[in-house]
Amino acid sequence: MVNMTAGNEREADDLFKEFRETSITEFFRKNRAHLGYSGKLRSLTTIVHEIVTNALDACEEAGILPEIQIGIDSLGVEHYRVSGSDNGPGIPIKHVPDVFGKMLAGTKFHRNVQLRGQQGIGVAGVTLFSQITTGKPIKVKTSTGNGKVHEIELMIDITKNKADILKHEEYSEYWRGTGIGIEVKGVKFNLGERGPFEYLRRTAIANPHTRITFIDPEGRKTIFDRSSEKIPKPPVPVRAHPKGLEVDEIINMAKATKARKANSFLVTSLSRMSNAKVKEIQEYVSFDLDKNPRKLTWSECEEIINAIEKTKFLAPSMEGLEAIGEEHVRNAVLNILDPEFEAVLTRPPKVHSGGIPFQVEVAIAVGGQAGRNVGEGTRYELMRFANKAPLLFDAGGCAITKAVSSVDWKRYGIKDFENSPVTVFVNVLSTHIPYISAGKQSIAEDRKIMKEVRFALMEVGRRFQLYHSRKRRALEKEAKKQILLRYGSELASALAQLSNKNEEKIRKALQKLVDERITGMDLEEEEANESEMETMLEGESEDDSEIPEADFTTEEE
Ligand SMILES: Nc1ncnc2c1ncn2[C@@H]1O[C@H](COP(=O)(O)OP(=O)(O)OP(=O)(O)O)[C@@H](O)[C@H]1O
Ligand SMILES: [Mg+2]
Repeated sequence: MVNMTAGNEREADDLFKEFRETSITEFFRKNRAHLGYSGKLRSLTTIVHEIVTNALDACEEAGILPEIQIGIDSLGVEHYRVSGSDNGPGIPIKHVPDVFGKMLAGTKFHRNVQLRGQQGIGVAGVTLFSQITTGKPIKVKTSTGNGKVHEIELMIDITKNKADILKHEEYSEYWRGTGIGIEVKGVKFNLGERGPFEYLRRTAIANPHTRITFIDPEGRKTIFDRSSEKIPKPPVPVRAHPKGLEVDEIINMAKATKARKANSFLVTSLSRMSNAKVKEIQEYVSFDLDKNPRKLTWSECEEIINAIEKTKFLAPSMEGLEAIGEEHVRNAVLNILDPEFEAVLTRPPKVHSGGIPFQVEVAIAVGGQAGRNVGEGTRYELMRFANKAPLLFDAGGCAITKAVSSVDWKRYGIKDFENSPVTVFVNVLSTHIPYISAGKQSIAEDRKIMKEVRFALMEVGRRFQLYHSRKRRALEKEAKKQILLRYGSELASALAQLSNKNEEKIRKALQKLVDERITGMDLEEEEANESEMETMLEGESEDDSEIPEADFTTEEE
């Protein structure tokens, strides 16, 4: 046999002695920044975010008005205990180990549903962070309201991505909900704009039906009370839309289907796929759609995708989307910012890549408490939300931030936008938010999403422009009136002397004249100004010609 290696070279067999599989938990232990555990403040906020989003999702699905308690106790330098509890539906005991001790396990990933959580990683990430910074388990108390309460302590067996139960007690009590407690080190608490307090404050703004009680490390208690008793509609899962599907997705879905024939598989697995549409698809493909879906080959699925491209479908159903609503957003904005001007807008739903429905809500507040106080003045503030969960980190790469910067605010009368007392609120809702990373703090630059945010902001910008120019005119009018009245009063006294008539009567007559003139002037000017502004804003139409629209029909079949 010829020896192929020479000098310092090593043989493949030797190198591959190191080859082994890694568990997902092992991966995140080494790369915890992907989950949001980078930086002392951010790590603490991430823990609160995971607990609160889970509580709100669980309550929303169960139709319960959420009551959430969060406590952060200081146990030493950069050492805290975080506890959270909710009045949600509780977790059936057989699922508790996987919820807290296994990554990529949950009720949301596979469902295409508008919830705050998506991946099945969040709370197991909290367990992992607790265990790698303090070596302590997560403590869980949960009950589904069946009279049995379970208290469990567990850690994750990292190499197996599996829970390691250290303690399990069961006792009788009528209570329902879930509570967790963890100990973490190397984190920091503060009241700043990226800390847990601000996270909870913004959660309360976007979730007016929620009551959150927070006790901070100094023992201060804050109650973010609910301003609405209305429970949002439980989210409805939406089936995938044919447009935007890929071959691999069809193959995967076909493996999981209970349907016996490919044609009924297509109808039952996809939205907007009727029997009539399947007949159209049959015309384009070279094989019989009566076949077993599990036997579909890659090239047959390619044929299906090509046929879908040639067929028109109704746009995706929007029933899976539930916005906060203009009234609630307005109340929240007015409540916390008491602005001089505010405008709120919810855009009609649209679809982003892959035929996934989404919707955008925006608000703008100017003056009052709006904006961010920085030492030397006030700067603009952006409040980003995805499915009503605040996004406090990674603003730079986020589609929302980019859409806000793409708007020419000068055009709407906000000259120095960056340094103005302005708060912009943006919430993106979708059955699948395209996050940049598992830490879920930033939305990927999907063109359709950016376009919708931009149009919504342009519209509220236009409303500000109208308000602003009316206000400017009112000020100018008042200034003119004051000048005329001053002259009027001097004139009245001179006329009184000359004519020997009552000065007060003359003054009143002159004042009436000034009032009439100013009002008349105002009406004329207003008409002229408004038509001038309309012409100016016409150029700002929603020109999206360069963005290809999905090929949807608009009429019901
Ligand atoms: N407080 C809770 N009440 C009821 N069920 C919960 C609660 N917290 C978690 N769960 C269940 O545990 C699952 C796993 O939660 P986890 O936070 O790990 O993932 P997720 O919320 O599905 O997605 P993400 O990783 O995006 O947060 C959830 O899908 C949910 O079914
Ligand atoms: Mg979660």
